[in-house]
Amino acid sequence: MTLHTGLDVLSAAQRGGYGVGAFNTDNLETTLAIIDAAETTRSPVMLAITSGALSYSKNRIADIALIEARQASVPVAVHLDHGDSFEVCMWCIRHGFTSVMIDKSHEDEATNIRQTRRVVDAARAVGVSVEAEIGKLGGIDAAAEAGDGSAQLTTADEAVRFVEGAGCDTLAIAVGTAHGPNKGIGRPHIAIERIGEIRARVDAPLVMHGASSVPADVVERFNAAGGHLEGAVGIHDDDIRQAIGRGMCKVNVGTDLRIASSTAIREFVRSHPGEIDMRKILKPARAEMARVIEAKMVLLGSAGKG
Ligand code: 13P
Repeated sequence: MTLHTGLDVLSAAQRGGYGVGAFNTDNLETTLAIIDAAETTRSPVMLAITSGALSYSKNRIADIALIEARQASVPVAVHLDHGDSFEVCMWCIRHGFTSVMIDKSHEDEATNIRQTRRVVDAARAVGVSVEAEIGKLGGIDAAAEAGDGSAQLTTADEAVRFVEGAGCDTLAIAVGTAHGPNKGIGRPHIAIERIGEIRARVDAPLVMHGASSVPADVVERFNAAGGHLEGAVGIHDDDIRQAIGRGMCKVNVGTDLRIASSTAIREFVRSHPGEIDMRKILKPARAEMARVIEAKMVLLGSAGKG
């Protein structure tokens, strides 16, 4: 299989009525877990790399992801997650990424459209697809949240205006999710109807950020192994299923892999106090991440589609 653009992978998902996971990776172990899970479940997948992951790895994560993606036996897109400048998008495109996100959702609409359009014009010339965002999520977009502290859900009118003006290939919308392990209280409310309204008027495949489920049993294991996560809650599986049913295509997951891997590491080092071999310490983390990703691929309906 060759590398696929984000748009190729997501257009197929839109036609087929399933979702594709974009899993955040910062290192070799996470990348291998994602590719292994995709091959085990025969699922298309997106490897999502943030600017933070690039700087953490001195940019090496880009090469690791591209090598793994090119060798995979299922369709894989290598994607820049939350690119915050034209320059980082261009760096990723020159480096071989097949999808970039330019995130100017914290700017006013006209600036967001103008700066997204600039990336779209350059990316389109070399066949790379572009994701952009309109609306404001919680979590890392918190600084841009509305004055009353609530995130701003994307409206259908905004989405239509934005896609027409910016020309992005795929569109991230705010429908009640947030980044990180604290997505709300109880069962966070996801605006399922809003997804349907936007989908009815926008052809670009839709993207859901902040979609980790933060399972209570894993949080309990994390805390039992000496960790401390308070009030951690994520998105219910039924809400993800319904979101996909209404037209959501790309489902972003990072937190669930962080909780799974750090729980496995905590448990392993506790029960093996004399272990000094990093490979042995990270092996259960890699296996736990692969298990979580496989389950996610079944939930999204991408299993068997690769
Ligand atoms: P989570 O924090 O829910 O994993 O979301 C990840 C994400 O949206 C990355 O862009």
